[in-house]
Amino acid sequence: MKLKYFSHSAFQITTEKGIVILIDPFLDGNPTSPVKSAEVNANYIIVTHAHGDHFGDAAKIAERCGSTFICVDELATICLKQGFRAHNMHIGGGYNFEFGKVKFTIAHHGSITTDGRYAGEPAGVLVTIEGKTIYHCGDTALFYDMKLIGEMNKIDYMLVPIGDNFTMGIDDAVKAAELVNPKTVIPMHYNTFPVIKANPNLFLEKLKAVNINCQVLKYGEEIVL
Ligand code: NI
Ligand code: MN
Repeated sequence: MKLKYFSHSAFQITTEKGIVILIDPFLDGNPTSPVKSAEVNANYIIVTHAHGDHFGDAAKIAERCGSTFICVDELATICLKQGFRAHNMHIGGGYNFEFGKVKFTIAHHGSITTDGRYAGEPAGVLVTIEGKTIYHCGDTALFYDMKLIGEMNKIDYMLVPIGDNFTMGIDDAVKAAELVNPKTVIPMHYNTFPVIKANPNLFLEKLKAVNINCQVLKYGEEIVL
């Protein structure tokens, strides 16, 4: 499979069979995104929580592509009521889709739509495809149960927010990586706006000091997992 980073918390997964899964596609209003929503396609869209910088352009993309939303029940229900396809899940639950397994985890944060509707609990998500597991932490504070997530699931790639202010900053994200102990850490949710300015190379150096591998992806970069 391939993993592409659009900046902020927006990623695209493409399976060997060509199924495309977007996570938190915040593109058009995102000053750091190298693409606009009209340029991406998706079979599935996973949204970790309803904040505008995560739900982003999901509705526009789903309308054009007929994508299926995968989110926690309250947010999935909002999508269904708007006429979209959605698969309702909830935190702690996993489900085997045609492309692989999706499991939602806890995240300590909030979740409300841009027009003020409660959208359930925010989440992190574990996506297992072709034998590899990606843990997209969503927006979250540091929490000790990350240790359990790492113990119960062999994490290959941990996508972790480092921008501070709304989520973990660099030092908490280093501790999070130590708790999860993934093969590789990829920083996200930084430098999109002045308030979440952070240096990913400082994060990489701090992880190196505790023997954890880190890969800083450029905006628009795609890697083969
Ligand atoms: Ni958020
Ligand atoms: Mn956010």
